[in-house]
Amino acid sequence: MSNTSTTVSATANETTAFAGLETRGAHAWFGKHHALRDISLTFPARTVTGIIGPSGCGKSTFIRLLNRMHEFIPGAAMAGSVLLHGNDIYEPTVDAAEVRLKVGMVFQKPNPFPAMTIRENVLSGIKLAHLKRPNHDDIVENCLTRAGLWKEVKDRLGASGGSLSGGQQQRLCIARSLAVEPEVLLMDEPCSALDPGSTLRIEETIKELAEKITVIIVTHNMQQASRVSDYCAFFLTDGGPGYLVEADSTRKIFTNPSDPRTADYVQGKFG
Ligand SMILES: Nc1ncnc2c1ncn2[C@@H]1O[C@H](COP(=O)(O)OP(=O)(O)OP(=O)(O)O)[C@@H](O)[C@H]1O
Ligand SMILES: [Mg+2]
Repeated sequence: MSNTSTTVSATANETTAFAGLETRGAHAWFGKHHALRDISLTFPARTVTGIIGPSGCGKSTFIRLLNRMHEFIPGAAMAGSVLLHGNDIYEPTVDAAEVRLKVGMVFQKPNPFPAMTIRENVLSGIKLAHLKRPNHDDIVENCLTRAGLWKEVKDRLGASGGSLSGGQQQRLCIARSLAVEPEVLLMDEPCSALDPGSTLRIEETIKELAEKITVIIVTHNMQQASRVSDYCAFFLTDGGPGYLVEADSTRKIFTNPSDPRTADYVQGKFG
């Protein structure tokens, strides 16, 4: 019996000790506006981390630092480092496009290519990056299934992406991001436009994904954070740059957080 529990905890340690992604002293600015200050966080490989906190505390900004989307914004700057499997994605020799293939992103508002067919949308990342992946039919079915959309669209893969409902478009975008097989998937409030059924399907997908990849999800939905994540990071702003209050196992954040502000937030007392 004691042997078994040692093995289990050793396995858990091995899993959690390996950082899929890590930030060290990360800051973000928009022009002179200091939006985020000194965020150091580790995202263990094959886990789900929820990023929570009130509007404007820098959650979206933070996850855009993690795949170099932040630098698309005119006037945006950053400091600190972001390590993917130990390598800094901001090293001058690193190609940002390649980072974005490894660290995929799903946005709050679905952004499929409306004129492309459903099938073309799923395969678009593979085509754009000139990835050699055989069996496109299998990829389309597999990714749409994992995104919880296959049954609804399998008989109309040639219809345009724009012909889908908002929730279906969001699931199409998730399928599209899965097709390039990212190592990390960033999701910015991916279920905010979805009905409860689609939301549960996406949450199942997230849990499935975490068997293989690292998932970081921004959510305002505390039930969702507690259902889907292994760890949670709570951000706050006092008017100045957003900062990290605490990060811990989701269980601890929801039952016995270190900071009273975290307790107030997860209990819905503010934000
Ligand atoms: N493109 C931008 N240009 C200038 N300032 C920005 C830009 N995007 C965000 N900000 C500012 O940075 C701060 C953090 O914004 P961010 O969007 O990251 O917050 P958030 O936590 O994601 O909020 P929400 O929960 O409302 O999505 C805010 O003060 C915001 O006004
Ligand atoms: Mg946001």
